[in-house]
Amino acid sequence: MSASLAAIDRDRLTALIDRERAAYRTNFPASRDAFEATGNHLLGGVPMTWMRMWSGGFPLYYATASGARLTDIDGHEFIDFCLGDTGAMAGHSPAAVRAAVSRRYAELGGATTMLPTQDAAWVAAELTRRFGAAQWSFTLTATDANRGAIRLARQLTRRPKIAVFSYCYHGSVDEAFIVATQTGPRARAGNVGAPVDPRETTRVVEFNDAAALERELSHHDVAAVLMEPALTNIGIVLPEAEYLGAVRELTRRHGTLLINDETHTFSAGPGGCTAAWGLEPDMVTIGKSIGGGIPAGAYGLTTELAERILADPAADIEDTGGVGGTLAGNALSLAAMRATLGEVLTDEAFEHMIAVATRFTAGVQSVLDSRRLPWNIVQLGARAEYRFCPEPPRSGGESAAAADTALDEYLHLYMINRGVLMTPFHNMALMCPATAQADADAHTARFAAAADELLS
Ligand SMILES: Cc1ncc(COP(=O)(O)O)c(C=O)c1O
Repeated sequence: MSASLAAIDRDRLTALIDRERAAYRTNFPASRDAFEATGNHLLGGVPMTWMRMWSGGFPLYYATASGARLTDIDGHEFIDFCLGDTGAMAGHSPAAVRAAVSRRYAELGGATTMLPTQDAAWVAAELTRRFGAAQWSFTLTATDANRGAIRLARQLTRRPKIAVFSYCYHGSVDEAFIVATQTGPRARAGNVGAPVDPRETTRVVEFNDAAALERELSHHDVAAVLMEPALTNIGIVLPEAEYLGAVRELTRRHGTLLINDETHTFSAGPGGCTAAWGLEPDMVTIGKSIGGGIPAGAYGLTTELAERILADPAADIEDTGGVGGTLAGNALSLAAMRATLGEVLTDEAFEHMIAVATRFTAGVQSVLDSRRLPWNIVQLGARAEYRFCPEPPRSGGESAAAADTALDEYLHLYMINRGVLMTPFHNMALMCPATAQADADAHTARFAAAADELLS
């Protein structure tokens, strides 16, 4: 089959990238000037070093954002499929969150007081309705939700290690920067200032490999498997039939807790993959989108685990035992979560978002089919991503091997130069409640044109 697939001419690709880079510099002079005038006081010239990932040599500076639209400081409007890499999955500044945040901050007053507000119980009950976990604690980031869950898991099991999947991403959680290779596990390339070699803290296996997981869990030193039910940070890697059932069975058999990180897989539906696929994790973590862009995260656990941790005399979860954060669970964050979950990322909103993502995916697939491009697209609810290999990868390792930074750059620049913003790290697109079918079609048209230029 692959013999008849279209071949990419690398010289042509290089020439197209040069053309798009030049166009980018011409199209966005105000952003270029702002970046060049940044001065020397920002590390890497940006507020947060990930912002250097945008193709083109300088990031766009944005002026306004609303729903699925964003405008830059040159006045261009973009269809935003990046949505803050999921932080804005509710859309930018949705009206309900705007009202709740301004009521809390401007009318009632106080963002953070170390005292509870009544929003917390509502949000926790709603998270239970959606994800099943019975008791919840709040954080300000998904990273911190994962750190909290890992701490509790180690305390509950009295085991030192965790297990993750090769090329996973769970935020800046030290334990997770590890990959599986033919010669055994090793720290992920570029791992900055690791406190210890991650092989001391972590076991790592490839996704969709139940035998490897069984081998690693049989050491009986793994407190928890931390997983996205589908990998979303190395392309989208879906679980094969029976795989998640095997993970659950193996973790139970070996006394290991199972943590579902739903931060990105929330795109699968109102209760993420956990509800959509009937999963039964011991803990759920989530962050990014649930506050409508206001910092928010949460971890939830079963009643049985909650009772055990509360009753553990060796676990100080109230003071300096290593869980919590001064601003975590603050009133502003909870007001934003209540509005986001109650009025924006509703069950009905997901129906629309998933329908738009289905149209987006079908559009890209039709371009791949008609041009015989050796790429694939995978959808996970309201999210879709294309990857440069003929078949969807089965594991993080397979997906990493299909990475093509030149194609990434070409497509990112092609889109951004024509008013479409994709997630800068890879070619991921996310739909929010304000994303329209026409937005998906606009992407398809540009994707087809980009493909045709590449193949001409
Ligand atoms: C699955 C997953 N978990 C956790 C995180 C961490 O989120 P944050 O950077 O907001 O802490 C990310 C970030 O991309 C993620 O993709």
